[in-house]
Amino acid sequence: MSTDWQELWKFVVAQFPCGSDSIHGPEHWRRVERNGVWLATSTGADLVVVRLFALFHDSRRVNEYVDDGHGLRGANLAGQLRGKFYELPDSAFDKLEYACIWHTESIHHDDPTIGTCWDADRLDLGRVGTLPDPSFMSTNAGKHAARHGLTPHAS
Ligand SMILES: [Fe+2]
Repeated sequence: MSTDWQELWKFVVAQFPCGSDSIHGPEHWRRVERNGVWLATSTGADLVVVRLFALFHDSRRVNEYVDDGHGLRGANLAGQLRGKFYELPDSAFDKLEYACIWHTESIHHDDPTIGTCWDADRLDLGRVGTLPDPSFMSTNAGKHAARHGLTPHAS
């Protein structure tokens, strides 16, 4: 099965509780995806995991503020759609699940794929008025981007 990204995005966007204008919504997911693809050119991250993280990590938010458990709910949605819209080996799915569940509560991770997911998300903090901080980045590319005020695809 090859992933039909367009159909997958359509499904996830349609079920998103906060609507398309949400600050944590689809426009943010697209920027995270682009940031992640850009970071992965030097981090060696698993691109499919990074793209799926971008789509799912905030997809089950129910409010715009501190929303406990939204990462876990996003991971659960990813699990429900696995095998229907996309395939992913267990080891890669474990990383996707971990990255979604812990993306707001953990800071750093040594695994290049998980670190890239989190850095890609944090490089888009400018949307909520927070400058990305290099000390919160896991990858050298993320640190570099934050240190130099780069938000490579923030618009
Ligand atoms: Fe996010």
